[in-house]
Amino acid sequence: MGFLLIGAGGHGRALLELLRDAGLPPPAGVLDDAAGCPGLLCRGMAPVPWLGPVARAAELFSQGSFASAHVALGRNALRRQLGERLLAIGYDLPVLRHPSAVVAGSARIGPGSALLPRAVVGAGAEIGAFAILNTGSIAEHDSVLGPGCHLAPGSVLGGGVTLGAEVLVGILAGVKPGVRIGDGATVGLGAAVLADVAPGQDVGGVPARPL
Ligand SMILES: CC(C)(COP(=O)(O)OP(=O)(O)OC[C@H]1O[C@@H](n2cnc3c(N)ncnc32)[C@H](O)[C@@H]1OP(=O)(O)O)[C@@H](O)C(=O)NCCC(=O)NCCS
Repeated sequence: MGFLLIGAGGHGRALLELLRDAGLPPPAGVLDDAAGCPGLLCRGMAPVPWLGPVARAAELFSQGSFASAHVALGRNALRRQLGERLLAIGYDLPVLRHPSAVVAGSARIGPGSALLPRAVVGAGAEIGAFAILNTGSIAEHDSVLGPGCHLAPGSVLGGGVTLGAEVLVGILAGVKPGVRIGDGATVGLGAAVLADVAPGQDVGGVPARPL
């Protein structure tokens, strides 16, 4: 039974490269709602066949064609929603980890998460399900991420930072140790977050302020 990838966009292509770098076989198929999606393509790699829209996931599982999958969608709420649906159907959602990622032995990472090149997870950190720890991002010791969070490339959480569900921490943003960021908040790229952020709030700048 093959591995199913959901999402044929930029993040899906990044994960295709991750699988190759990790010495794992490519997905046997990709689902994407984009009309006429030609499949997942990366230069120099065989295309992954497009099997239809995302709604086909349940049918493919019941046919016994696929037992494991990954949701490769950048939108946090959608990635979490689909991931939870796949888990409920019975799919296995392994953590996809690039070989250059560094994960402390005492850290925990939830199902359906992806660790891209040079991501770092510190001692005692708890990464919720369906997370993206993008290229070069760092979740320092004892940080806690709710489900569906995304640490964008180069972003850094200091020790003991707590993120709620579906938080986006933008490119090269930094969060001071111990700060708490509420569900669905967005930290703009390049921000320095020095104080707690309310749920749903967008913040940006140095120091970060509500936008
Ligand atoms: C914060 C963010 C979500 C705001 O996006 P938006 O709602 O489309 O906002 P706009 O671009 O319309 O900008 C609204 C205002 O906020 C300001 N602003 C936007 N992003 C900002 C940032 N990162 N830092 C400081 N100010 C910012 C704009 O200058 C603008 O100010 P103005 O009204 O005085 O002109 C977005 O700019 C951002 O930083 N996203 C993160 C991107 C990222 O890292 N993605 C991960 C990809 S892997």
